[in-house]
Amino acid sequence: MDKQRLAGKNILVTGAAQGMGAAIAIDYAAQGAKVCLADVNLDGVAKVVQEITDAGGIATWVKLDVTSEVDAVAAVAHTVAEFGSINVLVNNAGVNKPLFFLDITRENWDRIMDVNAWGTLNCMQAAAAQMKAQGKQDFPYKIINVGSILSREAYDDVVVYSASKHAVLAMIKGGAKALIEHNITVNGYGPGVVRTELWEQLDRDLVAIGKFAKEGESMDSLAENMILMKRYSYPEDVVGTSSFLASADSDYMTGQLIMIDGGMVIQ
Ligand SMILES: NC(=O)c1ccc[n+]([C@@H]2O[C@H](COP(=O)([O-])OP(=O)(O)OC[C@H]3O[C@@H](n4cnc5c(N)ncnc54)[C@H](O)[C@@H]3O)[C@@H](O)[C@H]2O)c1
Repeated sequence: MDKQRLAGKNILVTGAAQGMGAAIAIDYAAQGAKVCLADVNLDGVAKVVQEITDAGGIATWVKLDVTSEVDAVAAVAHTVAEFGSINVLVNNAGVNKPLFFLDITRENWDRIMDVNAWGTLNCMQAAAAQMKAQGKQDFPYKIINVGSILSREAYDDVVVYSASKHAVLAMIKGGAKALIEHNITVNGYGPGVVRTELWEQLDRDLVAIGKFAKEGESMDSLAENMILMKRYSYPEDVVGTSSFLASADSDYMTGQLIMIDGGMVIQ
């Protein structure tokens, strides 16, 4: 690993207390970035920051509910106060709660859309305003939005989540067009089936609504029947792409969503 690949990058990662957000924050710091980890789970982010600093990296944490405009502005301000500026935002925070199509409630819609869709736009706006105020720099500012296989596909039990991740894709495309005048690129990546707490909970919820008979079956069944590589993934599987998108190697890219799904949704 190039320990200096991300030197000079000051990166804010949302939803960084666990799962993929924690994994990419640890990877960014190992490659020389200064990383601000933001989450509603303060104990979680504090522990990950400790892990990073124990390994010699530079990191800080801040409380952030991505649905709050006040929190989003404060998280960006904290990053700037600690590191001097912000160069990269990773919109990773996300939630899911499966329900079959005819069972979807207004509450289910509001919660998932609020965190995944509005939360992404909210943090994009807060970071972009700061990047714009910082003015032009030699390399592009970067916003990285975490989409999903469900940014390009939809299944009967996760329609709201799919709608929210299609919205994330729309914000990658529209954000790229809107923000390039401020030297900000917008890209993203779409994980497939990743073994994190989100999927462990999803697995339990899928049993509860009757989609699968027993816990653990959902991941194994999808791996066997729908993933070309015949295995589900782990947070470590996304760090290469998240690192690429934060680095100079992706400077001539904007408006793109890269799938990291072992060959599940190919378009
Ligand atoms: N696990 C998968 O299979 C999978 C697949 C495709 C996409 N994704 C997406 O990847 C991202 C990370 O997922 P994960 O599997 O690591 O999930 P996770 O549940 O392990 O971690 C998500 C983190 O987001 C935080 N969070 C939730 N709501 C928040 C809010 N309102 N404000 C701030 N933080 C909040 C949680 O506290 C948690 O630390 C999400 O956007 C998710 O939708 C996950």
